[in-house]
Amino acid sequence: MADETNAAVEAPPQEATVDADATAVEQEPRRPVDPDFEPEIIVFACHYCAYAAADLAGSLRLQYPATIRIIKLPCTGKLEVIHLLHAIESGADGVYAAGCMEGECHFLKGNLWARKRVALVKGLLAEVGADPERIEMYNMSSADGPEFARVANEFTERIRLLGPNPLRRHGVSPHSLVRDAVKHIAIADEAADSAAPPDDTPPPVATSEKGPAE
Ligand code: FES
Repeated sequence: MADETNAAVEAPPQEATVDADATAVEQEPRRPVDPDFEPEIIVFACHYCAYAAADLAGSLRLQYPATIRIIKLPCTGKLEVIHLLHAIESGADGVYAAGCMEGECHFLKGNLWARKRVALVKGLLAEVGADPERIEMYNMSSADGPEFARVANEFTERIRLLGPNPLRRHGVSPHSLVRDAVKHIAIADEAADSAAPPDDTPPPVATSEKGPAE
């Protein structure tokens, strides 16, 4: 009798089994992956770095998904929390800011502010039960076209595994909604030339709706 009691008391805890299960669940897609799902992704790209890198990726004929929609900003520091939330609320499946390398922002700390705002929005999304992985911050140099393409492909794959944004509405273009909402901070096509850095680099010729190389 005493042996049976001791055996019950000394039974191994169940945590190890539970943790292993939880890890297994985390590693699996949370929803069935739809092979036809093409995520619509909005990129807030700094004119000085990520936008130039996108241009370079196009020149190098590097491939990235056509559903990457770029909105050009003079600096990612212009991006506010409300803009990021609006992009998700508009139905974008994924959103990321792409700014200059840390320490190289033309406005000193714009990219650092952007990183903090992205982190804040991630926290807000997690609090309301949405996917914080739908939003991200990246840094890259203007000369790194391959990095722009790599990030675009990697982030698209991440979103593909997450599935469509539940807030997406049929017949509504998230990119159009967001572009209108941020037109007061974005660089319009006609302003691109005058906002270009004063060097010998030809001004970007692509528009804010530019897609990847065909
Ligand atoms: Fe590029 Fe600020 S100028 S992120």
